[in-house]
Amino acid sequence: MLSAGPSTAAALLVAAPGCGGEPEDAADVRCIEWPEELGACLDRRQAVEELRTIYPKCDDYIESVESDATERDGACCYEVTSRRNATYCGVPGRPFTLEGHRRTAVPRAADSGWLAHGKGTGPGGMAPSLAELTGEERETLADSWLRSALEEHASVASFARFALDLMALGAPSSLVEAAHIAALDEVGHARLGFSLASAYRGEPVGPAALPMPGGVPVAADLVSLARAAAEEGCVGETVAALMAAEQRTRAEDPAVRAALGAIAEDEARHAELAWLAVAWAIGAGGEPVRRAVAEVFEAAAVSLGRPLPAAAEPPRGRAAALAAHGHLGGAELRELPRTALAQVVLPCARALGLWRPAAAGGAVAPAASA
Ligand SMILES: [Fe+2]
Ligand SMILES: [Fe+2]
Repeated sequence: MLSAGPSTAAALLVAAPGCGGEPEDAADVRCIEWPEELGACLDRRQAVEELRTIYPKCDDYIESVESDATERDGACCYEVTSRRNATYCGVPGRPFTLEGHRRTAVPRAADSGWLAHGKGTGPGGMAPSLAELTGEERETLADSWLRSALEEHASVASFARFALDLMALGAPSSLVEAAHIAALDEVGHARLGFSLASAYRGEPVGPAALPMPGGVPVAADLVSLARAAAEEGCVGETVAALMAAEQRTRAEDPAVRAALGAIAEDEARHAELAWLAVAWAIGAGGEPVRRAVAEVFEAAAVSLGRPLPAAAEPPRGRAAALAAHGHLGGAELRELPRTALAQVVLPCARALGLWRPAAAGGAVAPAASA
């Protein structure tokens, strides 16, 4: 964290291509919420450091900052170069991607209608116990839950598009129905996350509009649909389910445990939906679809052979206190997705004939063509 930088409560990530309104070919733009009282925006060097801190699940997701800051609606926005797909380096859940980049909304310090009212007494309706937390720990937890909530919020759009993809390609009603149900699940996850973030923060926080410059295309063919379902669902949702389950195991606060329990259960069902969708697409589209899916699992397996990014700074405050409220440290956040890949995703893919390890040398290869 930058010593002279903002508190993380004030500097929150935004994966916003252009923060809305840019032309379709706009650069990848990331914004840091920056209230006026903080003064001038960070310079490029500070911004890349801050953005990487904001996205601790994947250190090198933001590879570089390419522009000076542009101020927009209480945020400092930068053109960045980022890794195209961070699924394998620790960002779980079903992402909403446009033009190859993950999109999430800008957080808004207000009740924008995404809080779980009536379920508790905190500012967001959730009531985690704050009594034994320091101010710094509350800040870390607020940031952590807000990042998660923004990802969940984006997953709503991802499933909405998935439902359209399925309709456009003639999928059975059972898959279309499950996609819509999953979108509603993600609405619930987002509400839980924003509510917990608001409770730790001491004031309501929610999402601004989700930017979709240039519109949202549907999948052009079964290959595209199956590839996305494999990447975002078979991998991403499986990782999300296992991470939420691990967070719940470590959590002690009743409100947090309840939220994570519900999320873990839903994410496991979403992963199952992805496998079913992939199976349907392969059945309908044959060998080209199977090959595209096999390539996804091969890429996932190859990613396991890469070294982990340098260890992130330890979470501020006491790790045990943070874990009791659902926040895991950087090393765990990096390792859990790899464990999920090695112990769940790839064995499932192998059982379905969609991936097999190479006979020798530790390398991997997609399943042989049928
Ligand atoms: Fe979710
Ligand atoms: Fe999900």
